[in-house]
Amino acid sequence: MNVLVIGGAGYIGSHCVRQLSAAGHRAVVLDNLVFGHRAAVGAEVPFYQGDLGDAVFVGQVLEAEKIELVMHFAAFAFVGESVENPLKYYENNLAKPITLLKTMVTHGVGKFVLSSTCATYGVPAELPIVEDMPQNPINPYGQSKLDLENVLRATAVAHGLSFASFRYFNAAGAAQDGSIGEDHDPETHLIPLVIQAAMGQRKSTSIFGTDYPTPDGTCLRDYVHVDDLSRAHIAAIPHLEKPGQQLFYNLGTGKPQSVREVIDTVEKVSGLKVPVQEGPRRPGDPPSLYADSSKAQNELDWKIHHLDLETIIATAWNWHKTHPEGFRE
Ligand code: UFG
Repeated sequence: MNVLVIGGAGYIGSHCVRQLSAAGHRAVVLDNLVFGHRAAVGAEVPFYQGDLGDAVFVGQVLEAEKIELVMHFAAFAFVGESVENPLKYYENNLAKPITLLKTMVTHGVGKFVLSSTCATYGVPAELPIVEDMPQNPINPYGQSKLDLENVLRATAVAHGLSFASFRYFNAAGAAQDGSIGEDHDPETHLIPLVIQAAMGQRKSTSIFGTDYPTPDGTCLRDYVHVDDLSRAHIAAIPHLEKPGQQLFYNLGTGKPQSVREVIDTVEKVSGLKVPVQEGPRRPGDPPSLYADSSKAQNELDWKIHHLDLETIIATAWNWHKTHPEGFRE
């Protein structure tokens, strides 16, 4: 299938492009390179630099490349920033994707896959999280994704769009061969920050809160390997054949891991000491988030390959060790 990967030069998008090619699909990348890296996409993959909100340009790419399905990874995802600058988030994560959907409808492209997030659930009443639990986001980032899910529902009814919305938990790790991995600027995610502290690129790692109602007092999260996330997107493709499909799936391992466990595991994998500073809670962090992904595992031809935190962190460590400056070298 001809698949347009918007945000295909970003962290999760670039891993998905690899998996699409490995599964025999033809991936085409569209990325504005605001956060993405050109080097994250192989030279053999058709690449268009542009913005998802540019209807004329996107329409030309859909026609020129005979696109049948669009995967959309090009969201802003800094929770704190979304609180300070909500309009930026609603513009990029909601208004522009609406323009994209209009363009798809105009050009007769009827299949769509969305990177959604566990942030749409807010602070869950129960754990693990299942898909039909109430969605009450606590920040504009999560709200923008939930709003887009609702736009998709209506588009499926009105225009026969078939879509899958994947609610990611904490994407982690890097390609097995170490050639692509996580490179954000600024970096805010725990695992790369801890690795950079181990490597001496940062003075220390901060633990945001040690007084949570969790076994060791630090937040619990569900770290899921980026290749496992990517494989789910490919597994959804056959389920989008019939018009009007509306699919929602959590993607996580189901294993809660604490901030301290992440730090200990980085020390174990790297053999290096991580300087740690205990600090206050980060506003907006739920104490505990982990997934029940059995719906995806039961309905899609998909299962978790990397269940173990040590294996996931080993792939991240390999990427950072071999690319200390990320893609900028
Ligand atoms: N943390 C620290 N120190 C740091 C960075 C993070 O202790 O320097 C903690 C956080 O408090 C949190 C955990 O490590 O408990 C993971 O934090 P990340 O920033 O790596 O990830 P989040 O869980 O905050 O964010 C992820 C996705 C977001 C998504 C969010 C939903 O990256 O896109 O889950 O809650 F919105």
